[in-house]
Amino acid sequence: MQLIHALDPLRSAIDALRADGAIALVPTMGALHDGHLTLVREAKAKAAHVVVSIFVNPLQFGANEDLDAYPRQLERDCALLEAEGVAVVWAPKVETMYPAGFATNISVSGVSEGLDGAARPGHFDGVATVVCKLFNQVLPDVALFGEKDWQQLAVIRRMARDLDLTRPHADAILGVPTVREADGLAMSSRNAYLTREQRAAAVALPTAMRAAIAEIEGGVPVGDALSALARALLAGGFLSVDYAELCDAADLSVLPARSDKPMRLLVAARIGKARLIDNMAVAP
Ligand code: PAJ
Repeated sequence: MQLIHALDPLRSAIDALRADGAIALVPTMGALHDGHLTLVREAKAKAAHVVVSIFVNPLQFGANEDLDAYPRQLERDCALLEAEGVAVVWAPKVETMYPAGFATNISVSGVSEGLDGAARPGHFDGVATVVCKLFNQVLPDVALFGEKDWQQLAVIRRMARDLDLTRPHADAILGVPTVREADGLAMSSRNAYLTREQRAAAVALPTAMRAAIAEIEGGVPVGDALSALARALLAGGFLSVDYAELCDAADLSVLPARSDKPMRLLVAARIGKARLIDNMAVAP
């Protein structure tokens, strides 16, 4: 496995891999857990070579967010990736990704405006910009993202379609189902911010979401089910609920009532120092 920090050696390594087979890219910010490693395993099944990027992207963090606190553990991450048979870890420095004078922004309207886009202004511009750069640097045949970040996946697919990206093609942007802890909490690098008590309480998020989904699927008005969900989180130890919405699964428009198209329940809520997000399918 090669650990690469600069663009010229990355390009040489990519050329050599490409001559020998297809490339799958898994973009990450590191502090890897089993969710990330599941993406890597799926990537191995899709292409001869797997490239994992590890880059804590300052562009996607707001001024008062956790950029400095975000866990960084490159050595440990590399050991995990080596054991998975990854070919290249691409870990650029911030100055390599954003050299002095960097002035370009990719902004995907519509799908990136509500939910996390509203709660975290500029976040999805930062995600789209860095992911477009990663695609251009690595030119992967396929790229894998987690459904854990459902809105992010929708933003990246929209960008790939709108910009006619060919490596990867929009159809080669693959979503992987959310990997959960035994109690149902979605795995996240940010779970590390929780104390033992907060971690135990955090299970209220998937539990309350499943209850709300059962209510919605059983015909309870959407607004009533979502209010009960927010109340359950606050009663269960969450400090606040940024949003809890039933949305069209594809374009993420908010649905005031059930629809006959695929739907998704998306929630963001704060507990302790962490802001946790989760989403689940809702049957029509
Ligand atoms: P990060 O939070 O490190 O996540 C990297 C990838 O792992 C994303 O595609 C994310 O959806 C996926 N992932 C995280 N937790 C998961 C889980 N429990 N189950 C399945 N997949 C999971 O998302 C980012 O980084 C960044 O925004 C990035 C795309 C790298 C751009 O900077």
